[in-house]
Amino acid sequence: MSIAVYPGSFDPITCGHLDIIRRSAALFDEVVVAVLKNSAKKPLFSAEERVRLIEKSVSDIPNCRVIHFDGLLVDCVKALNARVIIKGLRAISDFEYEFQMAQLNKKLNPEIETFFMVTNANYSYISSSIVKEIAHLGGDFSDLLPKEIYNDVKEKIKKGRL
Ligand code: COA
Repeated sequence: MSIAVYPGSFDPITCGHLDIIRRSAALFDEVVVAVLKNSAKKPLFSAEERVRLIEKSVSDIPNCRVIHFDGLLVDCVKALNARVIIKGLRAISDFEYEFQMAQLNKKLNPEIETFFMVTNANYSYISSSIVKEIAHLGGDFSDLLPKEIYNDVKEKIKKGRL
């Protein structure tokens, strides 16, 4: 069984992430979306909330499941019995960092491969921070996120303002 792991902070998941998940699910038997629990970034949503938002967004993808993890990504991938890490590349500016991470992960576990998927051009300008900034400033972010989680994000931002 071919299992691919798609890791990230997903704070929150965007249409760009969802596009990568859908395309990966068409290529592998199973896609495991792995949410990094304790990132250096201060997340808006807890790890459990981020998992829940992704689960809502991928409910129509039967071969996708969502987990959260701590520690090294390669250890998480190994524990899942997987050998492939999926990363999305939005622009050339993503490349240098992703290239370094792929090489480090290869050094940490030579059995694990990183596959890069070019982000759909419609979503190449989206990031989770941009979505949060537009939401905070009262702009329309409805077509940047999976529609299933739009209200959750709107509510969270509203609560943050109270
Ligand atoms: N569509 C939209 N946005 C995308 C995207 C896509 N296809 N691909 C990436 N992004 C955005 C994210 O939204 C995020 O935006 P933000 O900075 O505004 O939040 C940004 O790109 C970075 O993505 P992020 O999810 O934070 O991933 P990362 O590239 O920083 O890596 C891990 C996260 C989990 C893969 C990495 O930190 C990791 O492996 N950590 C575990 C510890 C470890 O093993 N360290 C050694 C690794 S060598």
